[in-house]
Amino acid sequence: MANTILVGAQWGDEGKGKIIDVLTEEADIVVRTQGGNNAGHTVHIKGQKYILHLVPSGILRKNKVCVIGNGVVVDPVSLVEEIEGLRKLGVRIDKNLYLSETAHMVLPYHRELDAQRETSKGKNKIGTTKRGIGPAYGDKAARTGLRVIDLVDPARFKSQLETRIKENNEILKAFGAQPLSFKKVHADYRAAGDYLKRFVVNTVVLLHEALRRGDDILFEGAQGTFLDIDHGTYPFVTSSNTTAGGACTGSGIPPHRMDRVVGVMKAYTTRVGEGPLPTENAEIADMLHAMGREFGATTGRPRRCGWFDSVATRHAGMVNGIDELAVTNVDGLDSVETIKVCIGYRDGAQHYDYVPNDIEALSRCQPIYAEFPGWRTPTHNARKWKDLPVRTRTYLKALAELSDAKLAIVSVGPGREQTIAV
Ligand code: IMP
Repeated sequence: MANTILVGAQWGDEGKGKIIDVLTEEADIVVRTQGGNNAGHTVHIKGQKYILHLVPSGILRKNKVCVIGNGVVVDPVSLVEEIEGLRKLGVRIDKNLYLSETAHMVLPYHRELDAQRETSKGKNKIGTTKRGIGPAYGDKAARTGLRVIDLVDPARFKSQLETRIKENNEILKAFGAQPLSFKKVHADYRAAGDYLKRFVVNTVVLLHEALRRGDDILFEGAQGTFLDIDHGTYPFVTSSNTTAGGACTGSGIPPHRMDRVVGVMKAYTTRVGEGPLPTENAEIADMLHAMGREFGATTGRPRRCGWFDSVATRHAGMVNGIDELAVTNVDGLDSVETIKVCIGYRDGAQHYDYVPNDIEALSRCQPIYAEFPGWRTPTHNARKWKDLPVRTRTYLKALAELSDAKLAIVSVGPGREQTIAV
């Protein structure tokens, strides 16, 4: 398989969990490199649904090693809950999971601050998952963060946590929020530290040993290109680099060791949270919600929906260097009569074939659409490219061409078997 970076080519929720699960079959190691438990990767296996937030999806397959890399922000208490939840479902977790000692931690004051900042922003809120992701990465950049390596050193953790809680309680008081009890936080996180210490290693060394052995590594991206802190629709973004470069910095594997980038995109567009979504469309949202689709895996929020936006996916191809495309949720469009695809943006006299950085300009942009006849046939039973209706194939080929990448995988449902290699 070679070393593969998998990224979301839209605003997150592209169905990465399922594609990662499919690609994991050929990988030896699966690594998460950014984000935290704001992610929710859903995988369906033999009628059982698994939602993974921090643990790489490779954990669901035998003989795969999973790594939570240095670029991830980890809430230790949530990670323990997730591991225990997976064990209850019969998933084996012991020598197949490793946690980077230099990953930064999300602590309760980060979650509180995330919630308080969102509330104070009123109608300008970002619509975060309230998992404390922004404040945790903020501390990392400000060099006031606590890392997993600190958690597993009881004396150091105690003194650093005490200092950080004191300072953050002052900020929380300024918001009119309840201060946190050091004693409680310390007890909860020490217990999590004791539980997790068996997983904690230098993951950079571990991954380079794997490279020397010739192992194939899959880098599991979370969120999507337009939620990237640098390349997304700032400030309506998450706080990490969700684009391909994040896989290098978040793992310690250099760019020249990466062999391919797979971009995952839905056959339409969705977004959770606030911020511009040029092709947003109430009709398609109502249709998908009525089908029971497009509710967030982490927060349960209904996702905003719109037509496929090839301006965005082409832009994603550019910043990620996407070699191959996986198009998911094709069956979501089975009943649509005429399918629209955005091929350009118009803002008055200005025409764009890339996503403009000025958030106000982007919010004003009107999509220019091409139309495709719908196939109006169920596709969920298709297992080969030739099983798909001709109109579906025409539509998918057009998406790949417009996005400037090679179509490699098509997904027509949540199951592993509902996957077509092109
Ligand atoms: P945060 O990452 O919780 O700070 O949220 C920032 C923005 O990213 C919000 O619009 C969230 O809805 C969005 N976001 C964060 N994680 C995900 C994800 O896994 N899927 C989709 N959107 C996400």
